[in-house]
This record gives sequence, structure tokens and C-alpha cells, in this order.
Amino acid sequence: MELPTNLDKKLISYLSNLPSDYWNFQCDDVREYSHGIHGYPAMMVSLISRNIIKLTNSIYDVNSVLDPFVGSGTVLVESMLAGINSIYGCDINPFALYLSKVKTTLLNIPALQEESAKLRENIENMYVRYKSQIEHADDAMRQIYGLDLSAKNGWGSDAPKYLEKYKAENYFDIDIPQFKNLGYWFKPKVVLILSLIKREINNICDRDIRDFIFIAFSEAIRLVSNRRNGEFKMFRMPADKVNKFDPDVKNEFFTILYRNIQKMAEFESACQSSNSTVSIYNNNAMSLEDIPDSSIDLVITSPPYGDSRTTVAYGEYSRLSLEWLDLFDLSDKEIRGIDKILLGGQKYSPDFKYDISSRILESKLTHIKNVDLNRARDVYSFYADLEKAIAAISRKSRPNGYQFWVVGNRTVRGELLDTDKIIAEIAEKHGLIHIYTFERNIINKVMPSLNSPSNVSGVKSSTMTKEHIVILRKQKKL
Ligand SMILES: C[S@@+](CC[C@H](N)C(=O)[O-])C[C@H]1O[C@@H](n2cnc3c(N)ncnc32)[C@H](O)[C@@H]1O
Repeated sequence: MELPTNLDKKLISYLSNLPSDYWNFQCDDVREYSHGIHGYPAMMVSLISRNIIKLTNSIYDVNSVLDPFVGSGTVLVESMLAGINSIYGCDINPFALYLSKVKTTLLNIPALQEESAKLRENIENMYVRYKSQIEHADDAMRQIYGLDLSAKNGWGSDAPKYLEKYKAENYFDIDIPQFKNLGYWFKPKVVLILSLIKREINNICDRDIRDFIFIAFSEAIRLVSNRRNGEFKMFRMPADKVNKFDPDVKNEFFTILYRNIQKMAEFESACQSSNSTVSIYNNNAMSLEDIPDSSIDLVITSPPYGDSRTTVAYGEYSRLSLEWLDLFDLSDKEIRGIDKILLGGQKYSPDFKYDISSRILESKLTHIKNVDLNRARDVYSFYADLEKAIAAISRKSRPNGYQFWVVGNRTVRGELLDTDKIIAEIAEKHGLIHIYTFERNIINKVMPSLNSPSNVSGVKSSTMTKEHIVILRKQKKL
């Protein structure tokens, strides 16, 4: 067992002397710069990453940063702001890769503004040309084809078929997407306007500008779909709301696009001195084949906190965007299968033999197994994959390089799974030393007065939950 180095001691002493609310960032703007472009589930608070980079840079020179679970690219954006030379991000959700690429690609802002103005003009012209077909689409589906636009079957299951018929009968000459459930999530008029906007974006020649604009389109898609807003899981509005829903699609899209341009312009100015190279790879965190071994000065990451089925479904969140954007030649089946390839996506056989390097987990799992074998298999599968990821990420760190893991703990069948402690234990088996763990409060939601100590109607109380930041260091030599 290696003894703590002087740098470890310096780090621990610095962290343990910080005020207790230092990492809360309750009043800070965490959506500034390109962080504010498009949502993503379980995004890291940007200032956590900023402060970790600053702190590590004050201890040694950080020239390379890796986030092996890059998601929406928070760590990459912060690494660019800090002027880090080599910045790497990996994920296997194609939408995460696309979003991270857009958020970290600096654009020529006047050219972007010019393309956006042209795009608006083209969309308006096309809209005028097809106005009557677009505006009458919902009524035609109801009255001529006898469809209930809120029904699961009929419009909900066969929208592409009905729209093709409508297009042929009404001279509407724009491609519409063909994916399953198109009608379940979108009303006819909305599909036609989105298809028109998509066609015009596709005509933009500059690929980076086109991608940037498609990300605004992706956010608009979510807002004008029949999904209940404000939730990451896909739930549809109740039927009466679907029937009344009439979003202003063009306006939603352009509002988002102009906001994003503003965010990107601010990011560009803040990055002016940066010579960063950002490389984003479609690599599984369990292998990370494109990242050079022993090369990374600093890892900052927030892994999923469980499998997608029972915790956060990143694939499900990304589905509508991927189905509309047809970016990576993905089939509908592949898009629907994303959650199954993420950490813990494949269940282990019922008689799995325990083979994970954590005694803490073993004892918790024994209890879970006694009450619910199925859930025990989910849990086992997630941590078995996490161990493979820890091993791969360890191989990428350079000797003495630090890793910061931002993790949430969860409870399964009454057993608290302390992922922070489990990671620290597993890490020791893979050439890493556990240096320190600290907690931060996250104010994740405001609850109604039911939970308020005062119990006065209308008085709101905040629910605090904790997140742990686990610091590991790669051994000097193996
Ligand atoms: C908590 S999110 C990361 C969020 C990110 N820090 C941000 O700020 O947006 C976890 C990410 O891990 C990705 N992921 C899950 N399993 C993976 C695997 N085996 N390899 C690479 N990425 C994976 C998910 O797609 C998701 O984007």
C-alpha cells in the first residue's frame, strides 16, 4: 500500500478546510456559456468541474483531461474554458456524442447568424407555400380520415402511412420521418412543420453550423411533442391535453436557436486564449480503446448511478431526437436498444457468482438477493460493469494522475448502496489509491408544504440530497 504523497496531503488539507457550503453552488448560474445549450439527464454541475480543474492545476500542470462518461460534455466545456491542451470525452449514447461535439465546437458567430437569418427566410417562404396543407392537417386527419389524434392506435401507430396519403392528395412535397410511434408523440401539423424545418436545415452546407442548428431543433422537438414537459422519462400528456395542444413550432425553434447563438458567442469570448484540442470518441468506458494508455493527467467524471432500466434512461431521453435527426444511420431498433448497451444494461444470469472487488457490495447484495433476486441481478450487473470501467479508466491515467468521481448513492430494497465507498474499494484493486471523499448538498427539488416543518399551506421547503466526490490517484508505479 502506497503512502500518501505530499501532493495528496496538500489536496486533503485544502479540501478539508473549505467552508461546508463551498460545493453547493446554490445561487450560481450553471447554465452559462454552452452549458445552457440543450438539456441532458443528470448533468454535472459545471462549477464542480471548474473548481476541480482549478484546484488540480494549482497542484500540478494539467495538460490532459478525460471524461469517460461524457454525457452532454460539461467537463469538456470547462476544460476548454481552462485552456487545457488535450481534452477527451467518451460515451456510447450517440446523442451524447453529438451534443458534446456541438457544445465544444467554436463557430464563426457572424457566419452562424447569417445562416440562421437565411434559414428563417427559407422556412417562412416554404411555410407560406404549404400553409393551407399544414394548417388543415389536424382537421383533415380527424374529419376526412376519421382519426382520433390522441389514440394509441390509428394515428398513434400508423401516422407515416396517413401522412403519405395526405401528402399525395394535397401536393405536400416534403419528406416526413417514418419511425414507429411518430403519431403517438406528435400531431399532424407539428410533424409537417418540423419536417419543413428539418429539410431547410439539411440544406445548410457548413457541417458545424448545421449540427449546431440541429441541436436547437432537437430541443424544439421535445417542446412541441406530446410528452409531458419537465420530465426526463417519456410520459405522454393525457388525451384531452393532446387534443388541445397546438404549439407554435417555428417560434419555439427560433427562440431556442437565438438563445443558443448567444450562449455560444459568450463561450467563444470566454475561450479566446484557448488552444485546446477536443477529441470525442464513441468508446465504451469499459474499454476506452481510443485513449492512449497512461496519458491522462486528470479524470473528472460522473458515471450513471445505476442501470438505465431502474435509474436514469439516457437512451430513452435521446430517442425522439435521434429518430428525427437521422444522424448516424441508426435503425429504429438500434435507437431503442441504447439503454441496453449502457452500464448495467445486460442482466446477469440468475445464478451469478459474486466476483466484484468490493466486500461492502457483497454484503448488501446478499440482503437484496434474499428479498428480490431480480433486483439483485440488476445491481450486480451494474457494478460488474462499473468495475470493468474503473479498470479501463485506471489504465488511461498517468502515474500519480488524479481522478475525481462525482457519484450519487441509492437505496435498493432498503439497502443503501454507497457507490462512493464501493468505488474506493474496487479502485484499490486496479492500481488506484483512494485519497479522499467529500460530500456536497444538491438541492434537487422544491417540495410542497407537506414536507415543510412548519406545515403551513403554501410554505415550501427544499429537499436536500447528497452527492459524493471520490478522489483517486493512480499509483506511482504498478
Ligand atoms: C451521469 S451521465 C454523465 C453526465 C455528464 N457528466 C454531463 O454533465 O452531461 C452518465 C453518462 O454515461 C453514459 N454511459 C453509460 N454507460 C456507458 C458506457 N458503458 N460507456 C460510456 N458511456 C456510458 C451515458 O450514456 C451517460 O451519458
